[in-house]
Amino acid sequence: MIQVRPLTFPQDFQWGFAAAAPQIEGAAFEDGKEPSVWDTFARIPGKVLNGDTLDIACDHYHLYEKDLALMAQLGAKNYRLSISWPRIQPTGRGAVNPKGIDFYNRLIDACLQNGLTPWVTMFHWDLPQALEDDFGGWRDRRTAEAFGPYAETLVKALGDRVKNWITLNEIFCFTQDGYGNGTKAPGAKESEQVVNQTYHTALLAHGYAVRAVREFGGPGARVGITDNPIPTIPLTETERDIEAAQKAFIEINSRVLEPLYRGEYTEAYFKTVGEDAAQFKADDFKLISQPTDFLGLNVYTGQFVRAAEPQGYEILPLPASYPTADATWLAHAPQAIYWCARHVAEIYEVPSVIITENGAGYDDAPPVNGEVLDLHRRDYVRNYLKELHRAIGDGVPVEGYFLWSFMDNYEWMDGYQRRFGVVYNDYATQTRTPKLSAKWFSRVIAENRIV
Ligand code: NOJ
Repeated sequence: MIQVRPLTFPQDFQWGFAAAAPQIEGAAFEDGKEPSVWDTFARIPGKVLNGDTLDIACDHYHLYEKDLALMAQLGAKNYRLSISWPRIQPTGRGAVNPKGIDFYNRLIDACLQNGLTPWVTMFHWDLPQALEDDFGGWRDRRTAEAFGPYAETLVKALGDRVKNWITLNEIFCFTQDGYGNGTKAPGAKESEQVVNQTYHTALLAHGYAVRAVREFGGPGARVGITDNPIPTIPLTETERDIEAAQKAFIEINSRVLEPLYRGEYTEAYFKTVGEDAAQFKADDFKLISQPTDFLGLNVYTGQFVRAAEPQGYEILPLPASYPTADATWLAHAPQAIYWCARHVAEIYEVPSVIITENGAGYDDAPPVNGEVLDLHRRDYVRNYLKELHRAIGDGVPVEGYFLWSFMDNYEWMDGYQRRFGVVYNDYATQTRTPKLSAKWFSRVIAENRIV
């Protein structure tokens, strides 16, 4: 006899959508907002596909009410949004822009009216350009020192309604990619030492933001960071390969997770960075490693690892035929989500893991007869969810899952061509059409199980 065992999630599991201000809001120069480094970067010829800018994006700044209503209609209970620093403080310091605060007040109120719990990211890469010009941006600790008062402003203004705070999104992308690889804003190509310094400034900013939530967050306030460590997947689930994958995970992700959770730059860090280590002050780590309430993980892809001498592990290159999304960096490796969550639980004993992003980017064609049959995305998400379910079954404390993203949006250097939404956006008319994946995900939420 067949006995079906439904892949049900814990009763209090939090389902939601994730998005970020610069990728959807548009209104890039409206109501007092000054440029971010991304507004500048997008205008450098050759940096972003088709020269796409963030100027209008999904025009969510004006259409947020409709968007949140659709999100609620799809059954989401949580929404991870971000706040634009240059909308709140146009030059990153000093006077607060009242129209910026007004907008986020309205946005948070609209979330609550639609039954959506807001999870607010304080920084999702849109650094005020003035901080880049005046301080050198993340190269300089004055940027972290400016982040403190900004974070306090947010917590004081919105903390009566926002209880879940995420300090920073993906340090790697705005430090390593922004100042080392030059592929993201501000597009610099600095030495390894300077890049490691940008990581350190970011960690300090996180610390200041945690302090702001602890001091001013009020009852029930919680805080964490969203990181995108490279998930290491043991080639076989045997003791030797698992040990190798753990070792690799610690070493290759040591710039962020070790100082956060160990309160110092460790042997693993120095093994990775050598003489290019960041400079720091003795007290920095007290700030950086304050206890947090959850760790947000953005998981899209992973690396296979097997046990090997002399360093204990070998990272296997993915062959050209390994399946990927149209975003070719996004290899389809569902076990990544299981292992990433498990590694942080086992290695750092994080109290709670939240998948703050997971999803897939394809160049979807426009709707035909009102439908976008994105089975590619649906299957990607479904396979990752199965592995997440397995992690929960194995005792990993996973509290929630946010799908990236609600609607198609500005995919950084891939512009508008690369679509991560489960809702199709027609940028010419700003018409939103839920894709097959949205309807399917909506059933998952409603039944609290993989359907
Ligand atoms: C992670 C980033 O946080 C988000 O902004 C981006 O669009 C997705 N990955 C997809 O690349």
